[in-house]
Amino acid sequence: MTSPLPDPAKLPLSLYIHVPWCVRKCPYCDFNSHENADPPEQTYLEALLRDLDTEAARADGRTLQTIFIGGGTPSLMSAHFYDRLLAAIDDRIGLADNAEITLEANPGASDQARFDGYREAGINRLSIGVQSLDADKLAALGRIHDPQQARDAVGHARRAGFERINLDLMHGLPGQTSQQALDDLARALDLGPDHLSWYELTLEPNTAFWSRPPALPDPDQIADTEDAGFALLADAGFRRYEISAFAHPDQACRHNLNYWQFGDYLALGAGAHGKITGADGRICRYQKTRQPDHYLNALDPTRAMQALSPAERALEFFLNGLRLIDGVARASYAPRTGNRLDLISEDLSQLVSDGLLTDENGRLACTALGIRHLNSVLARLEQGLARHS
Ligand SMILES: C[S@@+](CC[C@H](N)C(=O)[O-])C[C@H]1O[C@@H](n2cnc3c(N)ncnc32)[C@H](O)[C@@H]1O
Ligand code: SF4
Repeated sequence: MTSPLPDPAKLPLSLYIHVPWCVRKCPYCDFNSHENADPPEQTYLEALLRDLDTEAARADGRTLQTIFIGGGTPSLMSAHFYDRLLAAIDDRIGLADNAEITLEANPGASDQARFDGYREAGINRLSIGVQSLDADKLAALGRIHDPQQARDAVGHARRAGFERINLDLMHGLPGQTSQQALDDLARALDLGPDHLSWYELTLEPNTAFWSRPPALPDPDQIADTEDAGFALLADAGFRRYEISAFAHPDQACRHNLNYWQFGDYLALGAGAHGKITGADGRICRYQKTRQPDHYLNALDPTRAMQALSPAERALEFFLNGLRLIDGVARASYAPRTGNRLDLISEDLSQLVSDGLLTDENGRLACTALGIRHLNSVLARLEQGLARHS
């Protein structure tokens, strides 16, 4: 099923940095986050700088187009920490002139001086974990902040000079009516972000909510809330460009777009994931050791380096790309996966006839129905791919 192997020199390169600590663990959260309100900043910086040597070799001369510092709670770390880290990254890998550098901030762990310092350190985009602007809902979610702190965080970001601000908001919260969810969305839009991530709360294994599930709205109510919310977002000038991501023109998150378009990304920090294409065209996924204590002491924290088979590359290409409302360019399939698209033509045509996919102007994209049933679209593509592997 293969065609010429992907050429890394032609793939954009990003870097994900993970900060694995939070003041308190939220009951719905399955991210690699561990309670510690006063994390060991200096030793983590040293561990990241050691890890950076390996990642710099993987970059193999490519410069970074984007960096995303996620968590956990990256805003627990000082501006000095990021100043040192970003300078070392620029020195050892290199940052493109217009690199996008995003940091996730928790409103319960942020203040004006910190945000001023982040901006000075070169961070140019903030993603603020608002989640809700209803005090009762924030308490039910176990958040460490109230609505006013969320509003203050947006004000601090503006005053620090951040022009690009994303707000994370969730709906489908315990006991939340459709009207409450829409009021929440309207309040978030009033804060004037240029990007909004609007997630449906999901119950994840190994979380407190999984063990003791709260009463959540039913799927019909969620679907109605989403339809009305999408209209509210569109009226406010936001385009839905991914299942849960909405942006003003030209404000889509370039870092996440690179994931969804099957670009390469390096990984730094406890539990961080990477995907890298080698000079030989092999695509490998890897992960860093998850436990912060192990990471702090590891000489080489890279774990589970795994080369993707041709079928895995193809499936991952669709798994990511079909989350985008504009889908994927037909022409990018072969250079990014090393596979031939014509081998699964029949499966694609069938998905088009079933109203799940469109195949127009050189792009394959899910219809609204396809987005709602993305898992079954992917399962059918997986079967098609299996027949040719
Ligand atoms: C990596 S998380 C962390 C951001 C930051 N630590 C915070 O919570 O403020 C990114 C976003 O994913 C969303 N999220 C986390 N767990 C979720 C869940 N179980 N269901 C839906 N969205 C979730 C939240 O909106 C969160 O802000
Ligand atoms: S603050 Fe964010 S990363 Fe930390 S536990 Fe809560 S949702 Fe998870």
